Amino acid sequence: MKISGKNITRKKHSSVLRLVYTLGRISILKVSLTLCVGCVNPDSSTSEANDSTRTFRELVEDAKATARSAREERAGFALYTKYCQVCHGVEGDGKGFNAFNLQDSFGIQPADFTDSASAATRADSRTFLIISEGGTAVEKSQYMPPWEGTLSSEEIENTATYIRQFSRSKSRKE
Ligand code: HEC
Repeated sequence: MKISGKNITRKKHSSVLRLVYTLGRISILKVSLTLCVGCVNPDSSTSEANDSTRTFRELVEDAKATARSAREERAGFALYTKYCQVCHGVEGDGKGFNAFNLQDSFGIQPADFTDSASAATRADSRTFLIISEGGTAVEKSQYMPPWEGTLSSEEIENTATYIRQFSRSKSRKE
């Protein structure tokens, strides 16, 4: 009786062991299948990796550019508020409180930066020139003052960046 009882326990044990063993084999099979799928077409998986790397790099570059222009815009906002808003207006529409004087006395209106059509034709270099040297540098009104004595070239760039956001237009190299 005792012996057969032991035998039964051993039998139970061994079936549990077999189950564990089988499960183990199944998972080994799964792992090797996965590995195999990976190596069936190594080319495609590599190019995918490259693609995602490039996209990631682009994303990082984009994020950096956005952060840079946000920084410039913030700096530009402070300068604009201090020096330009009086004529060009809070909204950049050319309706600052001094605009009416210019209009009444000289018949000239400060530029409207919200006009995206004219913003689209304005090259960065020209914008930089008119802000630095004033209206007369580009055969425009002398009532657009020169700022190069007041602002550094970096500050002028910042105001130029800030002006662009009124018309949501992008930087134009030419
Ligand atoms: C005293 C008023 C006055 C102030 C202050 C002023 N502007 Fe102007 N701005 C003008 C006038 C007037 C014109 C339009 C000139 C024209 O059309 O002949 C102009 C034109 C411009 C233009 C040219 C837009 C175009 O037509 O391409 C830019 C850019 C500009 N201003 C930027 C600035 C910036 C940046 C500041 C501040 C640093 C500033 N202005 C401050 C009066 C002013």
